[in-house]
Amino acid sequence: MLSPAKTGEEQERSGPRHGPVLAQKGLVLHQQNLSLTKSGVVITQLLIQYVQKQLSLPTKSITVMSSILILGAMSDVAQAMAHEYAKNGYEVILAARKKERLEPLVKDLQVRYNVKSSAFEFDALDFKSHFDFYTNLPHEPTMVACVFGYLGDTKKALIDWKETEQILHVNYTGAVSILNVIASNMMERKHGTIIGISSVAGERGRQSNFLYGSAKAGFTAYLSGLRNKCFHSGVHVMTVKPGFIKTSMTQGMPLNPKLTATPQKIARDIFKAANKKKNVLYSLWMWKYIMKIITSIPEFMFKKMKM
Ligand SMILES: NC(=O)c1ccc[n+]([C@@H]2O[C@H](COP(=O)([O-])OP(=O)(O)OC[C@H]3O[C@@H](n4cnc5c(N)ncnc54)[C@H](OP(=O)(O)O)[C@@H]3O)[C@@H](O)[C@H]2O)c1
Repeated sequence: MLSPAKTGEEQERSGPRHGPVLAQKGLVLHQQNLSLTKSGVVITQLLIQYVQKQLSLPTKSITVMSSILILGAMSDVAQAMAHEYAKNGYEVILAARKKERLEPLVKDLQVRYNVKSSAFEFDALDFKSHFDFYTNLPHEPTMVACVFGYLGDTKKALIDWKETEQILHVNYTGAVSILNVIASNMMERKHGTIIGISSVAGERGRQSNFLYGSAKAGFTAYLSGLRNKCFHSGVHVMTVKPGFIKTSMTQGMPLNPKLTATPQKIARDIFKAANKKKNVLYSLWMWKYIMKIITSIPEFMFKKMKM
């Protein structure tokens, strides 16, 4: 785990916090997010020199600081994640539909935590723009969090295809479109972490939100397959399945406070779980067991329930 953000002077004295990266002829060696001991650094450098010698590569190495790209950065969960990662010394790259709305957060992160931060325009529904959006970023991020989502109105969606389309495209197609681009790049680099925020709603269709739930079910399956594919290239994919979170998405809903997390709690859990390379995170933890019960109710009984 990274230590809290250091001042510029402290960083200069202690040297770069992350190990060197060698990216030549498709070979990428990374030692990020690790607090290496001095001897660890020496061993790593010797190892890199040895590989360079074997491949007859020039000895220049590039140092990369850890960075996170947050997609859907105006969301309450995304904003809490931005604070959590910045507090831990990460550069935070924010992306949302209206870039100018992100400017106050960019400034806040820079001043409060003394980290780099920037904002970019991103629309999950503008599939054609996704490749250019990603390739035009100032640099390739070490982590990406896909946070955007749209609950929508299930009743309205049943009679209005536009609403249905938006629910399906924001939560599934848009996420798949941008993550395909990012995962391909990370697999080529043989390094990176992808965090996808899905939902417990994807575990069983319920009458109250089955369109949203079906899109999240698709997203969960996508992330599972992507994790399997990426594993062989050293890229980690984590699925987050929150229960209730107190955000603008659930505003006005009568939520049980004991089963409802704050965005800050979700952000802390995500930070810790991603560092531990967890595959699936339920937050709050009891949702894992609640969903086990819900998914084990026989269909003939479940269809009679009003959930
Ligand atoms: N709240 C919960 O109880 C709960 C539970 C389980 C899972 N989740 C998931 O957690 C994630 C974060 O949700 P939240 O609770 O923080 O909700 P939120 O505050 O309502 O955030 C949703 C965000 O998605 C963005 N978005 C919607 N359509 C978009 C598009 N076409 N392109 C780019 N961004 C778009 C919105 O951007 P604008 O600001 O531009 O509208 C908004 O910032 C979502 O994936 C959600 O499905 C939430």
